[in-house]
Amino acid sequence: MDKIEQRRAVLRPLIAQARPGLIVEFGCGSGFVLEMLSERYSNSVIVGVDRRFERLKNVTEKGLKNTALLSGDVSGCLFLDETFDTGLFIAVLHEIFSRLGVEGLVRTFEIAHAVLKKNGILLIQDFLKPEPEPVELIFRSEAIERRFYRFAREFRPRKVWYEAIDGGVRTDVADVVEFVSKCHAVEEKHWQEEMNETHFFFTESEYLEILRRVGFTVRDAKKVQRIEDWRAEIGDTIEVRSKHHYPDQWIQLVLKKED
Ligand SMILES: C[S@@+](CC[C@H](N)C(=O)[O-])C[C@H]1O[C@@H](n2cnc3c(N)ncnc32)[C@H](O)[C@@H]1O
Repeated sequence: MDKIEQRRAVLRPLIAQARPGLIVEFGCGSGFVLEMLSERYSNSVIVGVDRRFERLKNVTEKGLKNTALLSGDVSGCLFLDETFDTGLFIAVLHEIFSRLGVEGLVRTFEIAHAVLKKNGILLIQDFLKPEPEPVELIFRSEAIERRFYRFAREFRPRKVWYEAIDGGVRTDVADVVEFVSKCHAVEEKHWQEEMNETHFFFTESEYLEILRRVGFTVRDAKKVQRIEDWRAEIGDTIEVRSKHHYPDQWIQLVLKKED
């Protein structure tokens, strides 16, 4: 299965939980998910919103029939209350959190809640921060060791805790998955962007606590393995010694705005 088909296979069961009618994808990017929605819900109207206009231009090239696009920031009010049957946030919440923090994310959820109709469905897929656990990271090259210490100094979203051990460091598992997801950024501009962005920002209980507080009920919560093995990302330059399987997962949430 190629990467595109793998991504589709992961998303398909989540998208199957949508309520047809008027569907909005918040942060639609170049339209990967819009395309799936448009195929599956051919009698629905799908709205894609993104703050980056050039991404929306890529969507227009797909020629999707039942889709409308809007350039705007989903952390602000764009739609009337009780407009949509389904809303989706796919791989966008970590960007909103990195730019606007928890307050910005809560505001975004409140707006999503307001614009859904009663009994409307909200679907989420994003990175999942693993529960805290000390893990040993053994460096197999000086370059990767230097890169880790630079990450520990320069990562802005949270302080990276570590202690030196023989051949490496002991650190928290969330910082390991974060480091592994970033250490491929060799070009300086890309590295700087990565140092401002966290992918693994909420544990499952943190997602659920905030979403319930905003007024959603949780119909389903699933974890899906995102990367089976860190070696696919960085080769043999580090070794991760953990009690558990490599914990790089997506969280998928199905939420409902109750009547
Ligand atoms: C990683 S992409 C995911 C795109 C799409 N959901 C997918 O899964 O293929 C995240 C997208 O969210 C957009 N985005 C981030 N913050 C946003 C905001 N506050 N309002 C609207 N779009 C936003 C970005 O411009 C980017 O195109």
